[in-house]
Amino acid sequence: MLEPGSAVARVLARLEELYAIGGGLGANRIGYSSEEDEAHRLARGWMEQAGLDVSVDAAGNLIGRHPAGSAAWTGSHLDSVPNGGRYDGALGVVAGIEAVERAGHGAVVAFRDEERGCAGSRALTERPDSYVELHVEQGPVLAAGSAPLGVVTGIAGVARGEFELEGRPGHAGTVPMADREDALVSAAELVLRVRDAALGIEGAVATVGRLEVDPGALNVIPGRAVVSVDARAPDTERFERLIGALGLEPTYRVEPAAMDAELRALLCRELGSRGLPVVELSSGAGHDAGILAAKGIPSAMLFVRSLNGGASHSPEELSSDEDVALGVEVLTAALRR
Ligand code: HGY
Ligand code: MN
Ligand code: MN
Repeated sequence: MLEPGSAVARVLARLEELYAIGGGLGANRIGYSSEEDEAHRLARGWMEQAGLDVSVDAAGNLIGRHPAGSAAWTGSHLDSVPNGGRYDGALGVVAGIEAVERAGHGAVVAFRDEERGCAGSRALTERPDSYVELHVEQGPVLAAGSAPLGVVTGIAGVARGEFELEGRPGHAGTVPMADREDALVSAAELVLRVRDAALGIEGAVATVGRLEVDPGALNVIPGRAVVSVDARAPDTERFERLIGALGLEPTYRVEPAAMDAELRALLCRELGSRGLPVVELSSGAGHDAGILAAKGIPSAMLFVRSLNGGASHSPEELSSDEDVALGVEVLTAALRR
């Protein structure tokens, strides 16, 4: 039986090792980059130290199986966004290695390239009996309720696409305002419509994260603009309504995923039996657990409270050592079950 303190100290030290890969500000381990490869090399060593049988599947997902049996899986991803945080993804893999070792069975997986579309988990062909992922909340809900951990009810659906607006390029000084077809003005009106569509649906969000303007010269009326959209809603009915309100034809789409009721109840019992607040919440962020749930694999997520107002996808991402320790403990207990 490992001394809990040693497991947490080891988890925190390993998060620092991963965070240092690639140098620069924050975590920089883009999917299928040499930095993600380096993270997988480190994790492979840690899995072997834990006595797990390690394999890599065709998509490059790294899987450590406990020799005593590996029907129940845990894990997450080791890739990051540019200048990402210490905990996003990495916590679930590093804590998962501890939990499988301490539980005495199970498997831990590091999925490839979660951030750009879950390529690794989408490519998974194996079917574990169940999957429980430990992940930072990346939001303000748990901190507001002073709960160190939370159980995820469902993962929002994500629809992404773009709108291309055609105008007529022209001389900024000579074309009268009344005669203009300014693609960027139309794009500006569209950005506000995207915001208003989400505001009109409880729990929905929509974001224009990228705007392209052609030709992009100061003294030329924009002839073309491309507006990106990332639209999300907690359940199918609101998801469809949002996509319809936007008139979006998604080029990327992940359906809302309900977490497994039995696994949720199991996690809630583990929280309650420790005298911890039992908070359930939906996830606005996408996760590999949502892909596995969509494959029919009973899946659940345990969130660790995010501090700094829920900052994430930035070096500001922060969770306390105590909350991380509780996360490892409850994940281990869940795997034992
Ligand atoms: O974009 C997301 O929801 C996640 O961080 N991949
Ligand atoms: Mn993540
Ligand atoms: Mn992320």
